[in-house]
Formats: sequence, C-alpha cells, structure tokens
Amino acid sequence: MKKIGILTSGGDAPGMNAAVRAVVRTALYYGLQVYGIERGWDGLIKGQIQELKTRSVSDLIQRGGTFLKTARCPEFVTIEGQAKAADTLEAYGIDGVIVVGGDGSFRGAKDLSDNFGIKCMGIPGTIDNDLAYTDYTLGFDTAVNTVLGSINNLRDTMQSHDRVSLVEVMGRHCGDIALYAGIAGGAEYILIPEKPFDLNQIARQLVKSKLRGKTSNMIVLAEGAGSRDEIVKFLNEHAQVNIKITHLGHVQRGGSPTMADRILATRFGVKAVEEIIKEDSVSSAIGIRGNKVIAVPFDEAFKAKKEFNEELYAASQILSK
Ligand code: ADP
Ligand code: F6P
Repeated sequence: MKKIGILTSGGDAPGMNAAVRAVVRTALYYGLQVYGIERGWDGLIKGQIQELKTRSVSDLIQRGGTFLKTARCPEFVTIEGQAKAADTLEAYGIDGVIVVGGDGSFRGAKDLSDNFGIKCMGIPGTIDNDLAYTDYTLGFDTAVNTVLGSINNLRDTMQSHDRVSLVEVMGRHCGDIALYAGIAGGAEYILIPEKPFDLNQIARQLVKSKLRGKTSNMIVLAEGAGSRDEIVKFLNEHAQVNIKITHLGHVQRGGSPTMADRILATRFGVKAVEEIIKEDSVSSAIGIRGNKVIAVPFDEAFKAKKEFNEELYAASQILSK
C-alpha cells in the first residue's frame, strides 16, 4: 500500500477532524501518501481530491465539524456510482480508503471493497453511539456533554419558576445520548426507544411529586422514542402541568471535541492506518471494546447486535424515584 484516501461521510460528528489528523500523520509516519477526499462518497465520484501533508492538518484537533466536509450521496449506493468512485481511485493510484462515518458510510465502504477490491477501513464517527460492534463512537461524548450543558442551564430556570421541562435530544433510533445525558443531568424521566414507558404512570408521578412539594421536573426524550408534541400534550392534560419544550437539534452535532473524543479519534486514526497497511488485513470497522482498540471485518460488525446498557438504565430508574 503506497497511497491512501481519507474521507468523512454521513452526519458530521465532533472529533472527525481529530481522526483525519491522526490518519494523515500516521500515514506519513509509515511513508504513505495521503489524499483528502471532499464531501464523502460524492467527492470521490466527482474527483474532489487533494494531497494532504502534515501542515494540512495543523490547528484541527480542537475543531468540530469536518474540514473535508461531508455529504450524503444516493448515487454511491448504485454499482454505477461505485464504479465511478473506483475509476477516480485508479486515476490517482490510491489503493486504500479510510472513511469516517456511520453505518451507511460503512456499507458503502464494504461495497467498494467487495465489488472493486479496494481495501477500506471505517472509523465510527457519529454522535448516536448506535454501532453495535464498538462500545463508543466518535462524537458521542462531546454530544452528551453539549446536552448536559443545556440541561444544567434549563434546571436553573425551571427550578426558579417551578416548571417541568422536556428536552428532546438526537440519536436517531438509539437512546444512548438521552440515557447518558439524562443520568448525568439528574433527569427525573428518561424516555428512550429501547424501553417502553407508560405516559399514564408518568402523569400520575408528576401529580404525586407536586403534592409532595416537588414542583420542578426534567424529562429527557430521545428523538426515536416518540413524538414530543403528543407526549407533552398528554402530560399537560393528565398532570395539569405546562411543560416547556426544548428541542436541541443540531447544536448537539457541533462544538470542540472533548478530551475523550480527541483521544478516541487519535487511537482510531492510528489503528486504521496500521490495519490498512498490513499485508493480510481485510476491510474492517475500527472500534473500541473494553478500552482495547479493535478492527472487526465489516460483515461481522454489521451482524453485531447492540447490547443495551441495562445496568445504567436500572440506575437511572433507582435514582429518579
Ligand atoms: P451514516 O454514515 O452517518 O450512517 P448515511 O446512512 O446517510 O450516514 O450514509 C452515508 C452515505 O453512505 C450515503 O449517502 C451513501 O452514499 C452511502 N451508503 C449508505 N448506505 C449504503 C449502502 N447500503 N450501500 C452503499 N452505500 C451506502
Ligand atoms: O446520525 C446523526 C444525526 O444527528 C441523528 O442523531 C439525527 O437523527 C440525524 O443525524 C439528523 O440528520 P440531518 O443532519 O440530516 O438532519
């Protein structure tokens, strides 16, 4: 392997820049040439490529977003789109690609590998923490801390006014952002897609807590767990409250990565390069299990089933009573 490409794809996540930096510097350390591909698979199809040197990734480790930019590319899902991407790689003499992205981006990487023989490594970059083969994805820690900052601010004003607050957070179909931020923020209710919840029971608890003199409550809702408007309408009617809604949205995707995400990005980047240059390695997803950085063949990574953290959920139930 002499030349590799690096791209970021799908939704951005804090720490993507730090991962690209680690990939570039590790690749140069091992004597490779590195090419930055802009706007994910779309840029690969269109040939938006530039060589990256050590200085190209200076002053980046602390920045959110992705300087390579990212995109979603429907054309790449087709074999014709992938063939165009393979032609670009051939034109530049690039033999391997490292992609920082989520599940969809990894499926693209596997297709490129299976259909055109290009070795690919995937670095999990998504705030959702929804990839089963790895304990953590890049950007999750930063997103949770961003949510936590908002919960802290909301608590101040909700307590002053004796109000109930509902914060809706991202995560697609995964409740991890809500669970971790909810626990760390001391939320009374955490509503996530992995666990059924009973709105009648929550309404009764809100009434009971008011009778006990507790007038302020925090509800954290994962976007995949249900409609915030319907939930709020039901609780307002059945518990005689006037819930204030905060929809955090894309602020959760930005910001300077935390120390944990910078370290993770660095470890993932180094591992991705060390794996791609191994003669006998196969296209794989990079991840972390029990604080050990791992490389798992894509097929195996896709088959893994996400283990829900029952212990953490149980703790949240005990502490919110
Ligand atoms: P993420 O990587 O964050 O999950 P997406 O699901 O939007 O984000 O996927 C990013 C891109 O990866 C898509 O726009 C598409 O180009 C490519 N992709 C997604 N799914 C597939 C697939 N099944 N086969 C090939 N490429 C795919
Ligand atoms: O996958 C990351 C994520 O931020 C999800 O949490 C969210 O559901 C989705 O992307 C939002 O996508 P978009 O930026 O395209 O609106």
